[in-house]
Amino acid sequence: MTALIQSPLIQLSGITKTLKGQDEPRTILSGVDLTVHSGQSVAILGRSGSGKSTLLSLIGLFDRPDGGQYILGERDITKLPERKAAQLRSAEFGFVFQRFFLLKHLTAAQNVAMALVNGQGWHSRRKRKAKVLAALDQVGIAHLAKHKPPRLSGGEQQRVAIARALVREPRVLLADEPTGALDTETGNLVVDVLLSATHRGCGLVLVTHDHDHAAKMGRVLSLHDGKLA
Ligand SMILES: Nc1ncnc2c1ncn2[C@@H]1O[C@H](COP(=O)(O)OP(=O)(O)O)[C@@H](O)[C@H]1O
Ligand SMILES: [Mg+2]
Repeated sequence: MTALIQSPLIQLSGITKTLKGQDEPRTILSGVDLTVHSGQSVAILGRSGSGKSTLLSLIGLFDRPDGGQYILGERDITKLPERKAAQLRSAEFGFVFQRFFLLKHLTAAQNVAMALVNGQGWHSRRKRKAKVLAALDQVGIAHLAKHKPPRLSGGEQQRVAIARALVREPRVLLADEPTGALDTETGNLVVDVLLSATHRGCGLVLVTHDHDHAAKMGRVLSLHDGKLA
């Protein structure tokens, strides 16, 4: 196999963000640098309120920085217009949150399929079904495809949510305290499932409070005083 010199997936430099709440504006991020390569995993630790979710929402293009530079792949997207940012968001990123956000009246497979229905591009019914099953299989719950969330455990529900994030084959998986609502053992399993996505070349940014989960990542960073160290 030829060794490829890959440019980083994500390159943030000097990212700043000030949030304007009811009180005076608060600087949440004051010069964040972060590089993530394909297949790499990064844990972000930091106490509550330190800006971890804010940082993830900037990476995932839900929000935009006030300053600094954001390069995705080889493209400078720092000042990309919102419409294009929204396209990139759904094409390049998969999101996993503490809450699973599954639709109760739909089966696991239908919940995952929602990500294809809402995404850009059109797939035939058969192709869609194959993609959904592959995603459920990847997280180890293909046998639960026809189950609805109320019949699934917390860990199984989170795996459905991860399958939903993976089904569009994102380049980067962003997980914001995905084990926050799970017991330790189930949480470990979910972290392993997230990590397995990196073996297929996905970049993974995991925000967590759990030092054991963080230690499983390739790199552990801490957000403190608006900076990553
Ligand atoms: N929309 C907002 N407007 C103003 N302040 C906000 C907003 N969202 C979050 N904050 C504040 O920004 C800080 C960072 O929040 P957040 O990124 O959610 O931290 P973390 O995820 O590390 O707990 C917190 O102090 C929070 O209260
Ligand atoms: Mg948070």
